[in-house]
Amino acid sequence: MLIRVFLLFLLLHPFSKGEAKKNEHTLSLLKNSITIIIFFYYKVYLNFILMLIKNHILPLETIPHPLFHEKQISLKVLRTDKTHPVISGNKWFKLKYNLIEAQKKGFKTLLSFGGPYSNHLHALATAGKANHFNTIGIVRGEEHLPLNPTLSDISREGMKLYYVNRRTYRNKHLPEVIEQFRQLVGDDDPFSEGKSAGDFYLVPEGGTNKLAILGASEITNDIPDDTDFVCVPCGTGGTMAGIISGLSEKKQIRTKVLGFPAMKGGQFLNETIRTLLNEKKTSSQQVDWELFYDWSFGGFGKMNKSLAQFMYNFEKKYSIELDPVYTAKMMYGIVSMVKNNFFPIGSKVIVIHTGGLQGRRGMEQQIKRLLTED
Ligand SMILES: Cc1ncc(COP(=O)(O)O)c(C=O)c1O
Repeated sequence: MLIRVFLLFLLLHPFSKGEAKKNEHTLSLLKNSITIIIFFYYKVYLNFILMLIKNHILPLETIPHPLFHEKQISLKVLRTDKTHPVISGNKWFKLKYNLIEAQKKGFKTLLSFGGPYSNHLHALATAGKANHFNTIGIVRGEEHLPLNPTLSDISREGMKLYYVNRRTYRNKHLPEVIEQFRQLVGDDDPFSEGKSAGDFYLVPEGGTNKLAILGASEITNDIPDDTDFVCVPCGTGGTMAGIISGLSEKKQIRTKVLGFPAMKGGQFLNETIRTLLNEKKTSSQQVDWELFYDWSFGGFGKMNKSLAQFMYNFEKKYSIELDPVYTAKMMYGIVSMVKNNFFPIGSKVIVIHTGGLQGRRGMEQQIKRLLTED
């Protein structure tokens, strides 16, 4: 067991330390190669080996938007969506230490929650399978057959799905509701081996907890020291808290973190992020951060013609796919803020592409309709 935990740690260790450390690549490659050989021995899935290699070279892509040029702003996108074909973007960072913890504690089963297009469940199903965990997904709402592309991918990866009504879903953090899930899973006994049925490692919605913050803090390894602003989309606030924490640990306090909530009324995130940072006991170095609420486009998962058009043009010009739920809204907000002179002349801005592109499949028709609408 200890050897497996150690090997998993090696595999998950952040090899990429940003532009300044490119000369360490040879050493990292050697380390990676040894890890790969060991993992071949342990028959870990090829997907994870690919992830290791991709994680090693997170691209930082400049957006040559004429407006940015005019305002003398350098804007680069950090492509965390390139970490892995499935466990992509912030998911990889948020799951990493949770999987290590579950393995350390000897759990055989992971349980988590999500909507029918959940990026989080999608990533967890694959990450769980690759690390030999059984996985259970509690899905908000009723089952609809045939399964949508997200849920059908998830099922194919072996995740067992349970559907719960919205009220139960809303109360999923309450001990009595968690106990209900334990009973449900225990009665059904989908995975009887190992620990007793109904005994699972619980990963919260969106994967956000203390260990997720620790993982997300490692995104800052790829944020150059001379960055003035980092922009990140927000759902549960975990990724943003991780970035604030990472910058604080690095004492990179000149960098301000800007968060873009994807839902209406994202003001509650101020408190959530503060609590997450306190739990993480983020060092006393103060990193400035702020949330911007004007770019939710009417609510979570909602979009309009203007957003669809923006996304279409951005993707065509810069060949970077966005997702309408998180990254497109954030990017729209950033461009508007540049127009309104929010960023001082000469600012260096890094935008975190948090992935989520799989979820787009559920909105493709809506995007097409909006684009052709008068
Ligand atoms: C693609 C994408 N971007 C951003 C977020 C928001 O991350 P967080 O919940 O950590 O705020 C999510 C949700 O987890 C997501 O799926």
